[in-house]
Amino acid sequence: MSGRKVIAVVGATGAQGGGLVRAILNDPNGGFAARVLTRDGNGVRAKDLARLGAEVVTADIDHPESLRKAFEGAYAAFCVTFFWAHFSPEKEMAEAKAMAVAAKATALRHVIWSTLEDTRQWVPLTDNRMPTLQGKYKVLHSDGKGESNHFFTDAGVPTTFLLTSLYWDNFIYFGMGPKKGPDGQLVITFPTGDKKLPWIAAEDIGKCAYGIFKKGDEFIGKTVAISGENLTGAQIAAVFTEVLGHEVRYNSVSPAAYRGFEFPGADSLGNQFQFLRDFEDYFSSVRDPNFARTLNPSLQSFKMWLTQNKSAFRLK
Ligand SMILES: NC(=O)c1ccc[n+]([C@@H]2O[C@H](COP(=O)([O-])OP(=O)(O)OC[C@H]3O[C@@H](n4cnc5c(N)ncnc54)[C@H](OP(=O)(O)O)[C@@H]3O)[C@@H](O)[C@H]2O)c1
Repeated sequence: MSGRKVIAVVGATGAQGGGLVRAILNDPNGGFAARVLTRDGNGVRAKDLARLGAEVVTADIDHPESLRKAFEGAYAAFCVTFFWAHFSPEKEMAEAKAMAVAAKATALRHVIWSTLEDTRQWVPLTDNRMPTLQGKYKVLHSDGKGESNHFFTDAGVPTTFLLTSLYWDNFIYFGMGPKKGPDGQLVITFPTGDKKLPWIAAEDIGKCAYGIFKKGDEFIGKTVAISGENLTGAQIAAVFTEVLGHEVRYNSVSPAAYRGFEFPGADSLGNQFQFLRDFEDYFSSVRDPNFARTLNPSLQSFKMWLTQNKSAFRLK
């Protein structure tokens, strides 16, 4: 590892951070080394990454001292929070603050903070087109991230603010994939009408982050937005149909109907989809796949991602 700049990766055994660790390890002459932060150094995923050449350290972002120790001696860190583990924007903000404080205390030279828009800057709490959640938010899993940006700037941490997109992996792991309706027809269901939404393979978020680190100081202090492809629900259904060889239709519902679905976080996700739908022009202007491809030349389209992952879909 001598001479190589260490990147400490929060969430390294997960989707975004894992993509970054694999990008670092797949580029042995790139000048960087990967430090995996995990709560369980004996976990299967941590051990797999260690076998591939990553350093593994035990840390919990809820324990600031362990975080500081894990950042010590590193050149950079990738910081992400875990909304779906606790459903609390307040907790996400506390975690983001802890990471900013640890980054400052250890004088990191570059941090990538995986963030999202604070939607209240577009849809204030007084705007009733979508319900206010937990009394203070419109999109629980987005607003807390956006509100946390200032922790990094206030602390004077050299930060790149990385605006990510919806994962296609949600079609496998988050229950968004094609489902059979009462008539036996396969459908995907979104409340986004005919609007295009920004999507990406989770693995490509990590690869784009690696591209940012490789650019040195170029993106410090900047906001960088990435997407793999911006697609309508009908376009997604058409790609499913083509790649899986079964007809998949797009079922467009209202955001209110989506918010009423019975899974945890449906209200926040319904609001997020409504936000993405209503501000399509903003999203398609800032999340440009051609730009993301300059950071990550192997950036996948939806068709490429689905072709790689089609065995995960059992439709019969
Ligand atoms: N799904 C989407 O479409 C989407 C899109 C954009 C952004 N996001 C955001 O992405 C974030 C999650 O990132 P992800 O998908 O990469 O995560 P993930 O795949 O769920 O993995 C999270 C990893 O982080 C670690 N972790 C969890 N709690 C931790 C803690 N307290 N301290 C240290 N490590 C902890 C766990 O590692 P160990 O068990 O090894 O400790 C876990 O493997 C969420 O905030 C979500 O809102 C999601």
